[in-house]
Amino acid sequence: MERDEFIKSLGLGLALVCTGSCLSGCGKSSNDGPEDKPDPGPGGGNTNTATIDLSTDLKAIGDQAKANGVLFFRIAAGNTAASFVATESICPHQGGNLVWKQADNRIQCQLHFSEYATNGSVLQGPQGTTGNTRTLKIYSTSISGTKLTATIA
Ligand code: FES
Repeated sequence: MERDEFIKSLGLGLALVCTGSCLSGCGKSSNDGPEDKPDPGPGGGNTNTATIDLSTDLKAIGDQAKANGVLFFRIAAGNTAASFVATESICPHQGGNLVWKQADNRIQCQLHFSEYATNGSVLQGPQGTTGNTRTLKIYSTSISGTKLTATIA
C-alpha cells in the first residue's frame, strides 16, 4: 500500500467511526422513556386539574379557597359551575397573592394591588412599581357531587 492510499483509508475509517458515534448518541431523544413523563401526582391523578370540596369550602357568596395554584371563589348561590370562578392564585406581574374582594367585585393582588375582573381582564395595573401585568387565565369548572374541579389549561 502506498502512503497516499494508506492516509485515504485511514481518513475514511476515521469518518466512519465518528459518524457511528454521532448516530448512536443521537438515537435516543431526551424525552424518550417513562422517566421523562410528567409526575401524575398523588394517587396518579391528573396534574392539570385542581379540586376543592364544596361540602367544606365556598359555602357562602364571596368565600374563596386555593388549591394547586388555582384561586376559586363563589359569586352566586347554588352549586352549579356558573356560581364559581377559578383563576390563577398568583399574580402574573411579580408573583403576589391574588384574593377575591367580594365587596369590590374584583380580584386583587396583595403585593402591588393590580385588580382584575371576574373574566380576568385587568382593571388596574401594578401600583407604585414598574412593569405591567396581563389578563388572568380563567379556568373552566365542573361539579361532580360535592367536588368542584378546575381544568388548568
Ligand atoms: S405582583 Fe401583583 S401587581 Fe405586582
